[in-house]
Amino acid sequence: MPTPSHSVSPPTDTLLGSHPALRRVTDVVERIAATPVSVLVTGETGTGKSLLAREIHRRSGRSGRFVEVACGSLSESLLESELFGHVAGAFTGAVADRPGKFLQADGGTIFLDEVATASPALQVKLLRVLQTMQFEPVGAVKTHAVDARVIFATNEDLAALVAAGRFRADLFWRINVVTIEMPALRERPGDIAQLATHFLRVAAAKAGRRVEGFTPAALAALADHGWPGNVRELEHAVERAVFLGRGPLVDVADLPPHLDSALVVPRSVGPAACSLKVALTQPERQMILAALDRHGWRRDAAARALGINRTTLYKKAKRLGMDLAALEPSIHASAPQSASR
Ligand SMILES: Nc1ncnc2c1ncn2[C@@H]1O[C@H](COP(=O)(O)OP(=O)(O)OP(=O)(O)O)[C@@H](O)[C@H]1O
Ligand SMILES: [Mg+2]
Repeated sequence: MPTPSHSVSPPTDTLLGSHPALRRVTDVVERIAATPVSVLVTGETGTGKSLLAREIHRRSGRSGRFVEVACGSLSESLLESELFGHVAGAFTGAVADRPGKFLQADGGTIFLDEVATASPALQVKLLRVLQTMQFEPVGAVKTHAVDARVIFATNEDLAALVAAGRFRADLFWRINVVTIEMPALRERPGDIAQLATHFLRVAAAKAGRRVEGFTPAALAALADHGWPGNVRELEHAVERAVFLGRGPLVDVADLPPHLDSALVVPRSVGPAACSLKVALTQPERQMILAALDRHGWRRDAAARALGINRTTLYKKAKRLGMDLAALEPSIHASAPQSASR
């Protein structure tokens, strides 16, 4: 599918894709963007939650700023001052007045990202400010009121966290007003080619290379992958291919190794192109890869889903010549759950 790299790319701050699940998302955005209602965006990592939050702000007509807060990254001691600011002399080192995130977002949008990672202390503070949109900066006597649209995002199941006693139910009900669920990329495979082509144009322009598109085998490999890291993983895979590749078309060999044709039967080739023995191992390989993808590459969970134990999974992988560590997308290699494998 040749794609001229010199044609103009659509802006990257728009959600691309035409799958009905994505169209439903943009329909809701159109309806709620200009209202003050708070929004919870859910979905797996890399599905476009942050992009959607910025899009809601852009379409809100609000003239203030878009202020992001990564809830898990706020240190306990600075929490209050980060969110609500402080006045000079409030504590050692507070030499001047400093506005917090809520005040910075006045007239705009405050995006509380990874809200499931908010500490119990932050949860209490959020509950209070969300009820009234009023707060006192640290050391101040005066109460401030702000007009900020609030958007939350999470890639965790907040209701399950509430049930497990790890997230406050009262905060959950305040957050859970309008919920937008971002579909996983594997649920909208028809959008892969459009997204890949877009990322190819952007990367080619960045790399100063003329790349026309993908070979049919590369497109088949992209379509067959499970994309546990969703659109972000696709973006990185295409970018890598553009920077590392040499030819005018991105081929399978330019894609990350876990997308390689040795493990994926390209639709254009088919089993007849290899020996019967090799062809017969493909379904087993694909089932293992699919289970690993679905379970974030957690070997235990994938083995359970396949009805085997972890040792058998390792043995099978070895027999099939699959190096699981090398095949695992890098996005998972650095994820915290890798410690528990
Ligand atoms: N529909 C889309 N169209 C174009 N680009 C997209 C789309 N969805 C996501 N992206 C791009 O994919 C990357 C990941 O998106 P984003 O950061 O919004 O994901 P996220 O859901 O917030 O992930 P996380 O849970 O890890 O924070 C970004 O570069 C974003 O621009
Ligand atoms: Mg995000």
